[in-house]
Amino acid sequence: PSMADRVRSVVDRHRGDRGALLPILHSLQAEFGYVDQAMIPVLAAELNLSRAEVHGVVTFYHDFRAEPAGRTVLKLCRAEACQSVGAEDLVAHAETRLGSKIGSTTADGQVTLEQVFCLGNCALGPAGQVNGRLYGRLDAARLDGILDAEAE
Ligand code: FES
Repeated sequence: PSMADRVRSVVDRHRGDRGALLPILHSLQAEFGYVDQAMIPVLAAELNLSRAEVHGVVTFYHDFRAEPAGRTVLKLCRAEACQSVGAEDLVAHAETRLGSKIGSTTADGQVTLEQVFCLGNCALGPAGQVNGRLYGRLDAARLDGILDAEAE
C-alpha cells in the first residue's frame, strides 16, 4: 500500500475518537518512525482540518520526528540540574563527535542526537538516554564508550 493508504488506515482506526489528531500522529510515528511532511495533506483531508492546523500540531509537539531516526537515538538532558554539572559541554562533545547538530541525524543515518528537558535522573546528571536506556554521570569518555558499543 502507498503511504497515503497506510495513513488512511491509521486514521480509520481512530474514527470516532474525539480530538483524534494527536493519537493518530502518535500511531503514525509508531508505525513509520516519523511523521512525513507528505502525510499532512492526507490527514487534513481525512480529518476536515486545514493543512496549517495539522502542521501546527506536528511542529508544536516535539515528540514528532520529521525524518526517520538513526539506529541509535541519543538523548541528552539540557534541563537546569544537568546543565549545572556540564550538560552543555557534553552536548558540544556529542555534536563534534557525531558531526551533526542536536536535533538531527548523522550523515550516515546511524545516530540521531536529541535534547530532552529532564529525564527524572537529576541527582545523577549529566543524564542521557541511549535507545531508551537511561545513563547518569555522563562525561565525554563515557559517552564515547557507549556510542562505540552501540556502533558495533
Ligand atoms: Fe537532567 Fe533532570 S535535569 S535529568
